[in-house]
Amino acid sequence: MSRLPVRFAPAITLGVVLAALAAPTHAQRAHQTGDPTAPITRVIIDASVAHDTISRHIYGQFAEHLGHGIYDGVWTKEGTGQWHLRDDVIEALRRIQVPNVRWPGGCFADYYHWRDGIGPASRRPHMVNTVWGNVVEDNSFGTDEYMELVRRIGAEPFVVGNVGTGSPREMTEWWEYLNHPGGSALADERKANGHAAAYNVRRFGVGNESWGCGGAMRPEFYADNYRRFAEFLRSFNDSTRPFRIATGPNVEDYNWTDVVMREAGRMIDGLDLHYYTVVGPWAHKGSATQFSEREWFLAMKGALRMQELVTRHSTIMDKYDPRKRVALIVGEWGMWHDVEPGTNRGFLYQQNTLRDGLVAAISLDIFNNHADRVRGANIAQMVNVLQSMILTRGPQMLLTPTYHVFELYTVHHDAVLLPLTITSGGYYVFGTDSVPAVSGTASRDRRGVAHLTMSNIDPSQARTVVAELRGLNVSSATGRILTAPAINSYNSFEQANAVRPEPFTDARVANGQLTVTLPPKSVIVLELR
Ligand code: AHR
Repeated sequence: MSRLPVRFAPAITLGVVLAALAAPTHAQRAHQTGDPTAPITRVIIDASVAHDTISRHIYGQFAEHLGHGIYDGVWTKEGTGQWHLRDDVIEALRRIQVPNVRWPGGCFADYYHWRDGIGPASRRPHMVNTVWGNVVEDNSFGTDEYMELVRRIGAEPFVVGNVGTGSPREMTEWWEYLNHPGGSALADERKANGHAAAYNVRRFGVGNESWGCGGAMRPEFYADNYRRFAEFLRSFNDSTRPFRIATGPNVEDYNWTDVVMREAGRMIDGLDLHYYTVVGPWAHKGSATQFSEREWFLAMKGALRMQELVTRHSTIMDKYDPRKRVALIVGEWGMWHDVEPGTNRGFLYQQNTLRDGLVAAISLDIFNNHADRVRGANIAQMVNVLQSMILTRGPQMLLTPTYHVFELYTVHHDAVLLPLTITSGGYYVFGTDSVPAVSGTASRDRRGVAHLTMSNIDPSQARTVVAELRGLNVSSATGRILTAPAINSYNSFEQANAVRPEPFTDARVANGQLTVTLPPKSVIVLELR
């Protein structure tokens, strides 16, 4: 039987349409017809007070030895009969400019012994992955294969070491295998395995969820362990200066943040908060594809809770780190549904609808808008597990709505955050409850071009946004939109392009003011020139 981790509670522009764009389809026109009676959301985007940069590492991915996340996801025997990396998946991941990939877990990390995954594949021991599904793990995908994966994606590595069942010696030897330039026994072993040059890994997690599946520790005990393990992750030269990431809080465990920052903060570079959006109780999270508007609303409300979590954990971190040296890394986030019927419940395979896409957009907006403290995040997970970018079936692959949101948001990678304030605006009301209907991020890239992403999470009401553009000289706006006919529209292997970005034309700029009509349940990106 698979063991699921213990958790306390489940846990915009505008203007001129490029003449070159193809004429909109009927469906597009339907999405883009704004309701003139829609309530107006007023926004100020003020470039004159911009100072923070949106770290591209907010757009990080997570690949665990879980279900088909690695095996058949990125590592396959298709075609050749021999294990190899999947070219199609790598190509798709390159297009969303993945900045880092967190690996090998997750809960698996505190169970993983890195030496099992190096050297000739035929000599690597097999193990049973008792964390996820009790399947045999042949260790054919190990350190050198992971490093090749991130190299080909163009991403940085983010390795999570084993605190739960490991030792400081095991962790420091892995660090040395990865990073020692040469001359040590471990560097020589890496060389013998075909990799003479050091990998120069910087991002290194000291355990995962050490409050739960990583060892069920109290924060005081973890903080002491963190200090002991992290002490041995040392630089071999300037380029391997470690970026040491501590297990952070589970959702709203503010005491964890307080104790770990107080006892170990000076040795921490990143604190790893985990929060999943779960609709319904843990035992019945609900279907990924069959849901009502109530479950849509609860998903949006759950995702917006990230705002409070990020703010409150940051405030506690400020007590010990007022200069914000330590990054808050949201190392696991996303929607967690019931598994797809008929699949192994230990594999966490789920479909991904427009609802997941909107949840991704509003979560990324929260991270972007806290760029001063949130300098990394890893959606769970990259392929075939939970809220994935990509689903595979044999040699086939499809891109999910969440993938498309990540692609639209590439404009914000390492761009300067332009503070965006919603001064007045509508709420999406459901029954007696309500949440703000519109969310957004504005930024300016290295070329000086401003971009705006905006979402309207209201599934039936269009929203007109009027944005005052301060400190920006803009006369046109062009863009793209992600929406779909139904709240549960998704891409299947039969219909892989049911949800995908289309050109967006319902935006105009005049006299320093941008006016845009956001269709119901949509995400847009605009380039402001
Ligand atoms: O992402 C799935 C699991 O969720 C991870 O292994 C664990 O860290 C978390 O509880």
